[in-house]
Amino acid sequence: MGTQELIERLNEALGWELRAMNMYAHYAATIQGIHRLQLDPMFNEEATESLAHADTVRRAIVKLGGIPVTERNPHPIVHATDYTVMLERSLETETKAAEVYAGIIKLLDEVGDQEMYDSIEQIYFAELRSLENLRLILA
Ligand SMILES: [Fe+2]
Ligand SMILES: [Fe+2]
Repeated sequence: MGTQELIERLNEALGWELRAMNMYAHYAATIQGIHRLQLDPMFNEEATESLAHADTVRRAIVKLGGIPVTERNPHPIVHATDYTVMLERSLETETKAAEVYAGIIKLLDEVGDQEMYDSIEQIYFAELRSLENLRLILA
């Protein structure tokens, strides 16, 4: 297994985190109506979580000798006035994140850096929790 491949996958995850930060911050600021009471804090929390995840992933990339990306993943951030659309986009984002981290966990298993494995696994579990939460909100 090449360290290079791991760095690339971590950079892919970083790009998605940078995008998630922007998307959730946008939704937190723009949501209107009665759902703002619950969704502004929820989106804000997700934005903060993405910031923390990005930090962990960035440091892992540096530890491996790589250069962290500075640009977000280009997948469009859709502006919406309907909260359901915001939640669907959030679910899409969390699904993608969980997928990317699942792949990284597999690669990390072979590297043998337990600290890095644990920190990335924690992120992976957080993505799964967000995904399940969104799935239930949209059910
Ligand atoms: Fe994340
Ligand atoms: Fe997430």
